Formats: sequence, structure tokens, C-alpha cells
Amino acid sequence: MELQAVEKSYARWAPVYDRTFGAVTNVGRRRATALLSGFGGSVLEVGVGTGLALRHYDRRVSVTGIDYSAEMLDKARAKVNAEGLRHVAALHRMDARMLAFPDGSFDHVAAMHVISVVPDPERVMSEMARVVRPGGSVVIVNHFARKTGPLALAERVAAPLADLLGWHSDFDRARVLGEARLTLAEECTLPPLGMMTLLRLVKTR
Ligand SMILES: C[S@@+](CC[C@H](N)C(=O)[O-])C[C@H]1O[C@@H](n2cnc3c(N)ncnc32)[C@H](O)[C@@H]1O
Repeated sequence: MELQAVEKSYARWAPVYDRTFGAVTNVGRRRATALLSGFGGSVLEVGVGTGLALRHYDRRVSVTGIDYSAEMLDKARAKVNAEGLRHVAALHRMDARMLAFPDGSFDHVAAMHVISVVPDPERVMSEMARVVRPGGSVVIVNHFARKTGPLALAERVAAPLADLLGWHSDFDRARVLGEARLTLAEECTLPPLGMMTLLRLVKTR
């Protein structure tokens, strides 16, 4: 999606996101935050959205969130204030393709339900690889295109509706595995129906 389409789509999604897409995708947020809470340290959450994951991190993890949508970020800020989420260090409006952080700034990076939304996913993978420290993890939760079956057909039919839906329904998993500095360390499919996949990549160089 182009950035303008992202902005428009998520301005529309923001008021209803937590009760719709957000409500049916909590398993991935819980798994990713449990994993990252076990590691500790600092986490950059790319495409933090309405901040649905923030309350699930261990309070000893320092979380920074970025998102391009002002409306989604407003919702995240409201959660931080209402729930007193003091482990959230900062929330910034920022384009994931140009992260305004020095190399190796974070122990770990998370991108949940984001990589099939952003314009230029390969560039976002490269930016995430840059800002994570060597040995740190990049945790991705996303839906990836199926090769066969009725759902694969539905994904291909929905693909031209990306700007309306707010994400690409037929996103190829290979597109997150091409970044040379990141090595796949863990992969699991998540309920319900294996719709989402969690990938953990480690910065090995
Ligand atoms: C489907 S939502 C996921 C939000 C959150 N991670 C979650 O799990 O609920 C996708 C988010 O990615 C953000 N996004 C898309 N492109 C972006 C970009 N280039 N830079 C920063 N955020 C972006 C959107 O604004 C939106 O909030």
C-alpha cells in the first residue's frame, strides 16, 4: 500500500479497530509479547497501531512504539494514560521505512500485523535489522499467503482490495526472509485456523 492509502485506511479503522480486527488477532500479540517479555530489555514496536499489545509486556520491558497513523497513535496514547502503562517509554509518529533511531538502538523489535500493510516491506525489514542490536530478535506476526485450498483462492480474490481492507491478503512469506542480517530462528502458526504465523529472526551479522 502507498503511505497515503495507509493513512486514509487507518484513519477509518481507528475508531472500530479494537472491536473488529484487533479483537480476533489477540493470540499473536499475546505470543509475541510473552516471548519478548522473557527476553527483557528494550523493544521497538513498529506499527504499534492502537497499542493493543502494550498492556501485555512485562513491566520490566521498556517499549517504544512508532506508527504513521495519527488516529491509531491517539488510541495508543489514550491506553497508556488510562492504564498507567509506565513501561511505555515513548510513542512516535514515524514512517517505518525511515526509522529515526541510530543503529543497534533496541534489544528487540516487534512488528505485528504490519509487514503486509507497509509500503516497501523489504525496506522496513532492512530498517528493523539496522536498529536492532547484534544478537537481538525481530519478531513478526502476520498472515502469509497460502499456496493451496479454498482460503488461498479467497486471498487471491481479496488481493485487489488492499487499499480498502488496509492490508494485502496474499502477502508472500519469502518477502520477510530476504534480509541478509536476519536469520530465521523460530516459526509457528497460530490459532484460530493457523491464520497468523509468528516468526522470530535473529540479527546474526
Ligand atoms: C493492522 S494494523 C496493526 C497494529 C498493531 N500492530 C496490532 O497488532 O494491532 C497496521 C498498522 O501499521 C501502520 N503502518 C502502516 N504503514 C506504516 C509505515 N510506513 N510506518 C509506520 N506505520 C505504518 C498502520 O498505520 C497501522 O496502525
